[in-house]
Amino acid sequence: MAKVAPSILAADFVNLERDIHDIEQNHADWIHVDVMDGSFVPNFSFGLPALKAIRDVTDMPLDVHLMIERPIRYVERFVAAGADWLTIHIEADSHENTVKALKLIRSMGCKAGISLKPGTKAEEAEPYLALCDLILVMTVQPGFGGQKFKEDMMPKLRALRSRLDEVNPGCILSVDGGVDRNTAPICKANGAEVLVTGSAYFKAADRAEYVCNLQG
Ligand code: DX5
Ligand code: ZN
Repeated sequence: MAKVAPSILAADFVNLERDIHDIEQNHADWIHVDVMDGSFVPNFSFGLPALKAIRDVTDMPLDVHLMIERPIRYVERFVAAGADWLTIHIEADSHENTVKALKLIRSMGCKAGISLKPGTKAEEAEPYLALCDLILVMTVQPGFGGQKFKEDMMPKLRALRSRLDEVNPGCILSVDGGVDRNTAPICKANGAEVLVTGSAYFKAADRAEYVCNLQG
């Protein structure tokens, strides 16, 4: 069964608590929280105070996706604010700082993840494979919800799964962007174990059925 992580980027921000409880009641697995800095990606979303407020109203695992430059500056604060999984982009800093940030996240008892933009090759993740618990493959350009799924990312997913099976089999693969009931089976067939889904979750007529369908 795949894990389903609704992305609250597509939630109703003035009714966020209601939408979070709705995610719980629809038996999703995690809540995906997108953090943007207006620099690494051309958009803003949630920050530290929002994450703390979300943590206060739910016990669900919080899967925090940092789309920020030089995440090492903030990882301790995001773990302290309530992240259970904290994912950083490998394009966002030097190799040395990325390694340090991953180690720091794990040293605080949080699961560490790396994310790859569509233009980043599977081989570029190689130096970090043993240092992470999750790899998030972007299937759209990061920054905005509601974009079209990039099916051409599937070979990258397969390549990462096969390398992880050799060096870190416990590390899980997640996909983010354009995931819906049509594209989720493609992701799962190519090795995805976590499905992040924003617009399609919030647009679903029956969200509980949608979650169940994706979990498969
Ligand atoms: C995009 C974010 C995604 C976004 C996905 O930068 O990382 O998590 O919310 O939204 P959909 O599912 O609408 O593509
Ligand atoms: Zn995301």
